[in-house]
Amino acid sequence: MKKIRFIEKDGTAKDVEAKIGLSVLEHARNNEVDLEGACEGSLACSTCHVIVDPDFYKVLPVASEDEEDMLDLAFGLEQTSRLGCQIIVTEDLLSHEGVPTFSLPTQTRNFRNFDS
Ligand code: FES
Repeated sequence: MKKIRFIEKDGTAKDVEAKIGLSVLEHARNNEVDLEGACEGSLACSTCHVIVDPDFYKVLPVASEDEEDMLDLAFGLEQTSRLGCQIIVTEDLLSHEGVPTFSLPTQTRNFRNFDS
């Protein structure tokens, strides 16, 4: 069984079964990983922000301009940050050495936070 790995906010590693064609956000939701995804993958939030292991970041398709724009609003942005709803698990990703790993940032930001 192929896996992907989440590193949760407290640093715990959680391996879950990889399903080709599903996004990283869908993997999180299906396996009780605390990745919010407030806009359900419509590129209107940054609450699905994940930090991708550099070895796997380089094999992902380049982020779209819309994704880049949303990422600019993400809290704790890093060089290998992506939006989990935009990363689709593919055969190609799983064929690389090691387990594709996605770390959850310690905090996320949603537009609603700006109202207070
Ligand atoms: S769930 Fe909102 S951009 Fe990914």
